[in-house]
Amino acid sequence: MNAMHTSTGPIEQSTRTRELTGRVALVTGGSRGIGAAICLALAEQGATIAAGYHRDEAQVKQTCKAIEAHGEKTSVHRGNIGFADDCRRVVGEVVEEHGRLDILINNAGITSDHSVLKMTDDDWNRVLEVNLSGAFFLSQAALPLMLERGAGRIVSISSVIGQQGNIGQANYAASKSGLFGLTMTFAREAARAMLRDERHGPNSAGLTVNAVAPGFIATDMVAALPAEVLEKVTARIPTGRLGRPEEVARVVQFLCLDASAYITGQVWGVNGGMEMAGH
Ligand code: NAI
Repeated sequence: MNAMHTSTGPIEQSTRTRELTGRVALVTGGSRGIGAAICLALAEQGATIAAGYHRDEAQVKQTCKAIEAHGEKTSVHRGNIGFADDCRRVVGEVVEEHGRLDILINNAGITSDHSVLKMTDDDWNRVLEVNLSGAFFLSQAALPLMLERGAGRIVSISSVIGQQGNIGQANYAASKSGLFGLTMTFAREAARAMLRDERHGPNSAGLTVNAVAPGFIATDMVAALPAEVLEKVTARIPTGRLGRPEEVARVVQFLCLDASAYITGQVWGVNGGMEMAGH
């Protein structure tokens, strides 16, 4: 019988092979929510995890403990990704500690919601600095390291809000839409550099840059929404429920495997159908 049709299925099989063994993944905001789930999903495939965090040291250490119990190595890196210097320092620290950086997940993000008329300069600037500029400066620091090795993965966590906009979230929506243009440009420049260096063989793991756009996922960020807003949001989700962090993480894991070398410059929705016309 063809292996694709056995009861174990292709996902369980690929988990068993631990395809990311020997790779180092930096996940920003690895302390909790979607970032913590991504750390676990990449570690499940054998990756060493460098978890970025800002303030929540106890939580990030808890994530790392769970990963180490699974047998993989971890390190933690404190930094405010709203500052370009912190982004460069964190990438430098990861390379110093592990000798390489193969995977960058731009996950850390914040909200500071107000209607357009009430939004302050600070609300606007902080959200753009963390969500968009942070992803730029981290990716800019990581790209030459990946080009040097001739392989790599950058995945940025955008949002369905970047695709649809949302009342009270002009700053957040702009930062998350901005990640689409950033992703496509990095994908093009990475592919061009790989071609120039003759690294695009049929068996190459490639250097890909993608975005994942979750819908509403049950994390602390969404728990901060008032109950009546959450009720209205859930009513707009065709599958009738919030997503789970693991449901986002499995798409990130998939994009990071070598077999995903031909997927670049894309936005992957994980939203219970929210982005379909009419929702
Ligand atoms: P969360 O609020 O639970 O976690 C955010 C993480 O970012 C934390 O680890 C925090 O330490 C880190 N962080 C915040 N500011 C930082 C800074 N200045 N420097 C470094 N790290 C910082 O959020 P959640 O829900 O896990 O979201 C993760 C990503 O997914 C965010 O980019 C968010 O915008 C995005 N997203 C979340 C959705 C949701 O429904 N929860 C939906 C769509 C996208």
